[in-house]
Amino acid sequence: MGSVGRPEPLRLGSIAPNFDAETTNGPINFHEFIGDKWVVLFSHPEDYTPVCTTELGAFAKLEPEFARRGVKLIGLSANTIESHGGWIKDINEISGSDLKFPIIGDKQRQVALAYDMLDQQDATNVDSKGIAFTIRSVFVIDPKKTIRTILSYPASTGRNTAEVLRIVDSLQTGDKHKVTTPINWVPGDDVIVHPSVKNEQAKELFPDFKIIKPYLRTTPLPKDKTSAA
Ligand code: BEZ
Repeated sequence: MGSVGRPEPLRLGSIAPNFDAETTNGPINFHEFIGDKWVVLFSHPEDYTPVCTTELGAFAKLEPEFARRGVKLIGLSANTIESHGGWIKDINEISGSDLKFPIIGDKQRQVALAYDMLDQQDATNVDSKGIAFTIRSVFVIDPKKTIRTILSYPASTGRNTAEVLRIVDSLQTGDKHKVTTPINWVPGDDVIVHPSVKNEQAKELFPDFKIIKPYLRTTPLPKDKTSAA
């Protein structure tokens, strides 16, 4: 436990905590749900909240792109699955989406607590019962169940689904090709040769690589070699 009675915060490289939960698509065991896929888990503090409503519609519309990359989406909101059901109807009506992925019912905030999604910084940021928000996190989890990305958003600021997809592309492409991706990279842009790759090996792997500085070596990587292909 951490200093204020919360679990130790999760970090990049932590194993995603396992849990059993009710979802809008039936009960799940989270590790079984992950299986051999990538997972994007994203959370909401409350159903029928305006910013979150727009976000869920956007994730639903982009789901085919995530699925193409072997990524399963799963939402969480700190309400019951019965409440989620009515909210999903609104989301689909407003966004023109057809939301199919599960949304966890986390009324007791057990998963939110286990994943350290609660806001500590702003003591006024609480619901009508005084329970801390925000529960507006995004976790990108790989098939080994390792947490690869953690994002945490304020209530005021809608997420960017294209950015979440871009992070998935960077991680999957990096894993496959021993590269990292520079600022504002999108699939098709030049990438950075991973620092662990020596120049001799880089010549073989990336015949067109350039040494800009000894610590910064770039190479073209066509979009069809990335996970966005
Ligand atoms: C929302 O607009 O989605 C929102 C409002 C208050 C707290 C958290 C989220």
